Amino acid sequence: MTSAASSTVITIDGPAGTGKSTVALRLAERLGFQFLNTGAMYRAVAMRCLEEGISFDDEEQVVEAARGIQFCIRDHRLQIDGHDLSEQLTAHSVGRSASLVAAYPRVREILVEHQRDIARRQPIVTEGRDQGTVVFPDAKCKFFLTARSEVRARRRFEEVGEKSGASYEDILREQQERDLRDSTRGVAPLKAAEDAEIIDSSDLDIDQVVDVLVSKAQESLKG
Ligand code: DC
Repeated sequence: MTSAASSTVITIDGPAGTGKSTVALRLAERLGFQFLNTGAMYRAVAMRCLEEGISFDDEEQVVEAARGIQFCIRDHRLQIDGHDLSEQLTAHSVGRSASLVAAYPRVREILVEHQRDIARRQPIVTEGRDQGTVVFPDAKCKFFLTARSEVRARRRFEEVGEKSGASYEDILREQQERDLRDSTRGVAPLKAAEDAEIIDSSDLDIDQVVDVLVSKAQESLKG
């Protein structure tokens, strides 16, 4: 099942630390679309489990937690049961747990439904791991952002390291574990869609990446 609104969806997939969220937000602002951060949805489920003391091994309870959350976007920010929890969602413990909940197919089904529903309401630039492959296979404009592993860990460290208390080495190691788990899981593994434009951001700054995406997106939406 694909979304009826897939002509107004731009997908950006790729591993952590490629600058995806920043780039997706800037692209959305330039095009007058809303920005959807789907990683934040998986983080929200993980946070709810942590708050409620739900074990990540208990699939039924994790699925129940996912089912109980309402999502919408306001001014590019994901609202979780009506609240903007962006700050709390960046916590290191939440990120680590998010890839555990993301491995459950039933959690993914629930969140994918929310993602398509959000796309039906407004044009979006959506960012995640499976947006071009699974959630919006018919989207006309798809990007896959990548960068060298050490570059990604360095960026992540500069973004959240100090706040989260994690060292660069912790971030690199956990990023490698998470990338492996995200790209080898049976359901919706991290990979580029065949028709995605692959952009390596290792040697580009954010402005350069945004400019490339804006011009490619404008071209493909025109055609
Ligand atoms: O991008 P992020 O670090 O906020 O993502 C958190 C976790 O959720 C990460 O382990 C990958 C997973 N994820 C996913 O499986 N599918 C998505 N569409 C988005 C994120």
